[in-house]
Amino acid sequence: MSNKDIYILGIESSCDDTSAAVLKNDTVLSNKIANQSIHKKYGGVVPELASRAHLSNIIPVVESAIKESGISLNDVSAIAFTRGPGLMGSLIVGTEFAKSLGVSLEVPVIEVNHMQAHILSNFIDNGKEKPDFPFLGVTISGGHTQFILVEDYFKMDILGETLDDAIGEAFDKCGKKIGLRYPAGPEIDKLSKMGDEHKFNFPLPRVEGGNISYSGTKTAFINFLHKNVNKNKNFIDENLHDICASIQKNLVDNLLNKVKFLATKNNLNSIVFGGGVSANSYLKNRLNYESRENNWEIYIPELEYTTDNAAMIGIVGYLKYSTSEISDLKSTPLPRYSF
Ligand code: KG4
Ligand code: ZN
Repeated sequence: MSNKDIYILGIESSCDDTSAAVLKNDTVLSNKIANQSIHKKYGGVVPELASRAHLSNIIPVVESAIKESGISLNDVSAIAFTRGPGLMGSLIVGTEFAKSLGVSLEVPVIEVNHMQAHILSNFIDNGKEKPDFPFLGVTISGGHTQFILVEDYFKMDILGETLDDAIGEAFDKCGKKIGLRYPAGPEIDKLSKMGDEHKFNFPLPRVEGGNISYSGTKTAFINFLHKNVNKNKNFIDENLHDICASIQKNLVDNLLNKVKFLATKNNLNSIVFGGGVSANSYLKNRLNYESRENNWEIYIPELEYTTDNAAMIGIVGYLKYSTSEISDLKSTPLPRYSF
């Protein structure tokens, strides 16, 4: 253990995953996540149940992250926590836990913006090249779809975002309509692999400028199902793979059209993804192709750092610690934390 090494304990509790991670500088030593399966039967996250589950999960998750990292709590240099955006009840658990632990260990606490963390997860050491500034940041999750001009770690400007549903929400809501459990995104990804993406066509929304929209697609999808199920009650079962592949294509086409527009307009050829939907294998295939066509450099975090996790909170903690951006104990959760 060198004196110069910095050990960050990261804590994430913005939605329905309780997570703790330990980083040694920009390297992840452990990253533990307790998923809350309780929400599956309700088809979405129930805020009150989420905060209760965070309360019972947080101590075991932190203990297990510390144990796996091989360091002791006394080695921790600072604690980074998600201040927002997210669900108030969920954020309170992580924020108050981090501050109390910070007081008892006598180490600083560092507040982190969850959306910045999704982008900056690409700076976790993975043995590969890191993105160069400036780049186009694209956060695609269950709660957000944002396009960000990133000029430095903490110099970010929103170029556009969804006017209604997030792309992950569109995956989840369309999936629910064909009987898939929450979160439906990963299931649609899997089922689509055996489907024909050209079998059914859905209209693409036309939104001028940097913003994007997904709610019209969801409505068109529901109308399409009604029409076809009226004619054949087994329509969904008989066409499940093709339905998944076709709607997935539409959701990804919509996203890539906007990425192309913004990359060209802002003269950016480095595109950096973050958020749960960047785990989508069809999107990755399309990006492989698009990067060759457009001469883009594409960055996508390792799978375990795409969905909500504390390692991404830890890397932001590390970057802020290096610039002495420490928070005080008055820091309170911000459900609508912008940057
Ligand atoms: O980043 P995340 O874990 O949480 C939020 O901050 O929202 O993202 C969760 C979202 C869900 O909507 C989920 O369906 C979607 O990411 N997702 C996927 C895939 N894996 C997760 N969507 C499409 N394909 C996937 N493989
Ligand atoms: Zn997230």
